[in-house]
Amino acid sequence: MCGIVGYVGYRDASDILIDALSKLEYRGYDSAGIAVFDNGEIKVAKSKGRLKDLVAKMEREGKPSGCSGIGHTRWATHGEPSDKNSHPHEGGRVTIVHNGIIENYKALKDFLVKEGRCFKSDTDTEVVAQLLDYYYDGDPVSTIANVTKELEGSYALGIIFADFPDTVFAVRKESPLIVGVGENESFIASDVPAILKYTRNYYLLEHDEIAVLSKDKACIYDLHYNKIDKELKTADWDMDAAEKGGYEHFMLKEIFEQPTAIKTTITPRICDGLPNLEECGITLEKLNKFRQIFIVACGTAMHAGLVGKYVIEKLARVPVIVDIASEFRYREPIVTKDDLVIIISQSGETADSRAALELSKELGAETLAIVNVKGSTIAREADMVIYTHAGPEIAVASTKAYMVQIAVMYLIAFEIALAKKQITVEECKHLTSMLQEIPDTIQNILKNIEETQYIASGLINADSLLYIGRGLDYALSMEGSLKLKEVSYIHSESYAAGELKHGTISLISEGMPVIAVATQKNLFDKTISNIKEVKARGAKVILICRENYQPEENLADYCFKIPETDDLLMPMPAVVPLQLIAYYTAVLKGNDVDKPRNLAKSVTVE
Ligand code: AGP
Repeated sequence: MCGIVGYVGYRDASDILIDALSKLEYRGYDSAGIAVFDNGEIKVAKSKGRLKDLVAKMEREGKPSGCSGIGHTRWATHGEPSDKNSHPHEGGRVTIVHNGIIENYKALKDFLVKEGRCFKSDTDTEVVAQLLDYYYDGDPVSTIANVTKELEGSYALGIIFADFPDTVFAVRKESPLIVGVGENESFIASDVPAILKYTRNYYLLEHDEIAVLSKDKACIYDLHYNKIDKELKTADWDMDAAEKGGYEHFMLKEIFEQPTAIKTTITPRICDGLPNLEECGITLEKLNKFRQIFIVACGTAMHAGLVGKYVIEKLARVPVIVDIASEFRYREPIVTKDDLVIIISQSGETADSRAALELSKELGAETLAIVNVKGSTIAREADMVIYTHAGPEIAVASTKAYMVQIAVMYLIAFEIALAKKQITVEECKHLTSMLQEIPDTIQNILKNIEETQYIASGLINADSLLYIGRGLDYALSMEGSLKLKEVSYIHSESYAAGELKHGTISLISEGMPVIAVATQKNLFDKTISNIKEVKARGAKVILICRENYQPEENLADYCFKIPETDDLLMPMPAVVPLQLIAYYTAVLKGNDVDKPRNLAKSVTVE
């Protein structure tokens, strides 16, 4: 959560910091602020609200002018969103921005108060600023090293010291941070897209490393002041990928990018018509030895795991347990060295998923991460990693990342089924070639967005709705429902269609929308019966079904048809109308689609 940036160079730091923050606003957006060395003095501008509110404030009141500084966009944890709680926070000679949570902030604050210190905000961050000032010994690096020993929790900190104009310091533990290296300029940022416009070269700051940035160099030290030589990485993300490129919102752009994202993700992993994950350290021998598989993730990534469960169990006959990471980590899961634990995460930084990974490793399981962000913590800490190549996903509501996570789940399922000799090489080739056709199927659905706009127009006044489905369609319903909730703020639940009559059907009243997903041939008649049950009680039914199905009259109020493909692969095309329905409902309601209220993209707190 929260985005931090820092700049030292020759350009106007306020402009650079604001521009870089605009690429990180997906991480949090309830307040923003910058601190810049202006004629040798630190000047702070901050404001509750979006980045545009800060910009407007600076237009009214003047912006700090100088060539170095730090900036922040916030997702509130300690203290409500307000001007006083906005970052940067000051502690005498030190000004900082912070992403993370200082868990022992209360004890540290009590100590500082006893020492006569006064606080202006309710944040845990101000405690760090004051502590840095308290321990300041004239040497920023040793001061930072000493203070980190006192801190419990997670942090990426951008720090400036009044005595050191034109130098930006940074340190991290758990929360991500990169150090960008340009021509006569250096940067820090929570994520690569923030600096792509200025440089592609960056260092990944590791836990307990301190960065010292000046105009012409970026040096990195450990906590004992030893200089560390690090590998300079080059971002291969296209700069346009972090721009809207003519689309009204990132969410729509990302929905449209799905066919390309699938191709980019699966093509390099297919060899002679068969999945080949050897470059990720995954061999048939390895896959053959696992007794059971756990898939652990949060939110949409967990929903991708549910699709994986159905497909792996059906094809490979290996038991799969899907867990919400925040539950898994505390439920003493029975994981052994014979198990494979798959962690799915777009950001690779989600706190609960990271903890689940750590726990799985402690329990001796082999771990595999499916991650979109290169070099992220989960990717680095897992035994094996399969990167999804979706490019940067900016909209808070995940769409293309989910799609490529599913694509990878299919490749894994095909490989395990082959390894366990549950399918023949020929069957595996057939499944793989069908998977390769999915991008075209999705492309055809995307030609048909008007239908989803029409469906959305009928939902905007709903107070609540249900998504129902069976089997893979149920897994999909969960994702459809989450997407709608996230961006439209309309309450919805997803239910296994056969479970409705055990209680939830009492919610159905005249005109209540029910989105029924029925793409699976073997379950089709069963789901139709459940649709009839809700229809008979007044529901307004939107049916998502395969092209070859002609629904009987009066079964559904609207029917969206998915081009034919194998049952097993149906989730990939069928999720697209669900994404579009959520998107257009939010647009019609006038919501801020890319930055829905209360959410942040990268959830680095528990
Ligand atoms: C998706 O639309 C959500 N914003 C959210 O559920 C997300 O999928 C979840 O927080 C997991 O994030 P991750 O994939 O980065 O781990």
